[in-house]
Amino acid sequence: MEQKIGLIGCGTVGQGLLQILHEKRDYLREAFGFEARVVAIADKLKGSLVLPDGIDIPTVLDLLGAGKGLAEYPKAAPAQVEPLDPLDMIERTEAAIIAEMTYTDIKTGEPAASYIKKALRHGKHVVTSNKGPAALHYHEIRDLARKNGLQFRIEGTVMSGTPVFHLAECGLAGNAVREVKGILNGTTNFILTKMETEGMDYGPALALAQKLGYAEADPTADVEGHDALAKVVILSNVLFGGSLKTSDVPCQGISSITKADVEAAKAEGFRYKLIGHAKIEDGAVAASVSPRKLPLTDPLAGVMGAQNALSLETDLMGKVTIQGAGAGKLETGFAILSDILAVHRC
Ligand SMILES: NC(=O)c1ccc[n+]([C@@H]2O[C@H](COP(=O)([O-])OP(=O)(O)OC[C@H]3O[C@@H](n4cnc5c(N)ncnc54)[C@H](OP(=O)(O)O)[C@@H]3O)[C@@H](O)[C@H]2O)c1
Repeated sequence: MEQKIGLIGCGTVGQGLLQILHEKRDYLREAFGFEARVVAIADKLKGSLVLPDGIDIPTVLDLLGAGKGLAEYPKAAPAQVEPLDPLDMIERTEAAIIAEMTYTDIKTGEPAASYIKKALRHGKHVVTSNKGPAALHYHEIRDLARKNGLQFRIEGTVMSGTPVFHLAECGLAGNAVREVKGILNGTTNFILTKMETEGMDYGPALALAQKLGYAEADPTADVEGHDALAKVVILSNVLFGGSLKTSDVPCQGISSITKADVEAAKAEGFRYKLIGHAKIEDGAVAASVSPRKLPLTDPLAGVMGAQNALSLETDLMGKVTIQGAGAGKLETGFAILSDILAVHRC
């Protein structure tokens, strides 16, 4: 079955998705009867493209790879490459699924939240890797989707393509999840790993993370725990049905951890990790983000470098731990694909 897809935002993740859809076209058709037709793209600076007959993906990837805009798409009529606000693109496209992949604003969730709500009001399923709408407006958006008989899926928001929500929804279906504990930020895990394994101080380890592209020039969101905090809120609200706000959750990052702290923990047989934690206690959700000394027997203690991991405490299976990438072009493009395939299967 053919699925018409519209993209809002065509940066790293959007182009990762397009690459996968192109390279795996035959496999996806044979394995799932899934045929993707990308019919619209709206991006802030790269421009817009609305082609009901389908966009040629290699052409778009070549254009963007060469630093050109979508306005240079060959043989398109002027109306098809006219710059469009995503809100207008949603009205104009026949896409049944909107993949929202613009920037994360963790204070307001905008403008992505408005795009998502408009798409749902126009009868389109939405998949997104954007933490903002998921952390701030999850229940409102999910209810809107349900009211309209549509899906709002967010696999990529917590651990990129490492399948946290698919695991809970499908693989662990029938279990009650009571507690989650995870390494949800690759940058801080990379820094702590370097501090322990190479005896680096915090400053040089952070500088190395920046040099290698793991940390932003302004690393605050990572090192002060704000990124992990948004993910803990998303996990709590999706898995426990809670309605936590980021301001409800105590949050401490790793910027005050010293090499001496890391070495002292190691001498005692422990390892520092930045842990996002959420648990149902007396019917309420308690959550936190903080650096913790884990015993080496904890599965999370063995997770090194920029990897992410999450342990889920379940009633039937006990502890289940999943580990994998927490970022990346193809990894997060895959998260979007996995949600599109979930819509397709339904
Ligand atoms: N990259 C990862 O590994 C990863 C992992 C997990 C989650 N995520 C999340 O996934 C989303 C996309 O990430 P990314 O790495 O692809 O970011 P990116 O490379 O910066 O791409 C974002 C794209 O969205 C476009 N955009 C921004 N505002 C827009 C607007 N108002 N309307 C239309 N287009 C707009 C940008 O356009 P211009 O550049 O043309 O201005 C850019 O092309 C973010 O929310 C991010 O937090 C990313």
